[in-house]
Amino acid sequence: MFFERPEGGETSILVHIQLQSEREQEDPVEFEELVRSSGADPVCFIKGSRKSPDARTFAGEGKLEEIANAVQEYKAELVLFNHSLSPSQERNLEKILKCRVLDRTGLILDIFGQRARTYEGKLQVELAQLQHTVTRLKRGWTHLDRQKGGVNLRGAGETQLELDQRMIRQRIKNINKSLEKVRAQREQGRRSRKRAEVPIISLVGYTNAGKSSLFNAITHAGIYEADQLFATLDATLRQIQLPSYGEAVLVDTVGFISHLPHKLVEAFRATLEETVQADLLLHVIDVANEAHDYYIEQVHEVLTEIGAEDIPCIQVLNKIDLLEGFEPRVERGENGKPSRVWVSARTGAGIDLLLAAISEMIGEDVITRDLTLGPEQGRLRARLYARGAVSSESVDDSGSTVLSIKLPRQDYERLLQEDNLISGHPAQH
Ligand code: GTP
Repeated sequence: MFFERPEGGETSILVHIQLQSEREQEDPVEFEELVRSSGADPVCFIKGSRKSPDARTFAGEGKLEEIANAVQEYKAELVLFNHSLSPSQERNLEKILKCRVLDRTGLILDIFGQRARTYEGKLQVELAQLQHTVTRLKRGWTHLDRQKGGVNLRGAGETQLELDQRMIRQRIKNINKSLEKVRAQREQGRRSRKRAEVPIISLVGYTNAGKSSLFNAITHAGIYEADQLFATLDATLRQIQLPSYGEAVLVDTVGFISHLPHKLVEAFRATLEETVQADLLLHVIDVANEAHDYYIEQVHEVLTEIGAEDIPCIQVLNKIDLLEGFEPRVERGENGKPSRVWVSARTGAGIDLLLAAISEMIGEDVITRDLTLGPEQGRLRARLYARGAVSSESVDDSGSTVLSIKLPRQDYERLLQEDNLISGHPAQH
């Protein structure tokens, strides 16, 4: 493996520089939690502010001295920056601080690497790591070459570089091939679930909100759970039985995090696709966390980014056992449907209310029926297929197409309305 990673328990200095030039600032509190999640041992947190990053070393001279002193004092093995560093900045810093330096993307990749549970998740992480390495390798060598200067030496360096790059490229190709295979299998599974008309309920939420615990409380599946961020990297599926509704599939997904580097969002898009395909989202929120409103916003942002903002959603306010005087209860929105349920995944309080609320939402919101289409309704047929709403198609005695469909009521009504405007032919059912 080409990627270096911190070993558990490495003594680490944390650095966060408030930049006046950047509107989107990373959160230092979350950073500390991320570092603990990676298994590193933060011993000192150095903060500062600057107008804009220094091109060579990100931090300024005075701050570097402070960091270098802390490295000495604590005998630190690792310095972690809550920022994206360019490969040359990372290298310059390592030289000055005489200690390994890792940036925010590197740290998140490391955590993802430790937490990936399925084959697909592991492949995704390795791919992201290799892609991260390739840019570093390229520029790193250029930097070294310039230092060495000599023509012959440079030639030797380039050969080594080419070799490393070829190996990495080959590995990336192999991983992509394997990923394609795994994805095809998963798509198959997803299609058969759709065919079986089982509603899909997806747990989403900020990392550490309690999704896996809630998943367990609902399924008693006993999956891995830990008091760390990102306990769940891969979507995990379980069949469940809902009172007064029947079978459904519950999906546990990767925890969201603010400002996830864009290339990582790309890398984990496949995992997040499970969320987009869901009939209902359970947005799990840690109400005991004072910053929960901020985290709700962050989750909404990710949901919008992946195109899941219109999927019906229940907010699950979790960890009420940590608050004084909070009882399990259901709140309803203006439309009279359950909008928020207060629970404790740990004690199990309110799980029965949650199950009933889910049944109510999917029972009412997902419709399953046969739809007879006129010959001019080809466009509606195509749109229903595109939404994955068709479970079977047949032709009746009069030669009309009959589609067995399943989709959220809201979508159904909107599609029919749009179709009526165009074809003037109301679908019969
Ligand atoms: P990621 O996989 O990182 O996204 O986390 P998650 O949202 O799946 O959180 P997880 O279920 O791993 O829970 C995180 C921590 O919160 C664990 O230590 C749980 O034991 C704890 N926790 C979860 N639910 C409750 C609850 O209802 N009450 C209390 N007190 N703690 C809870």
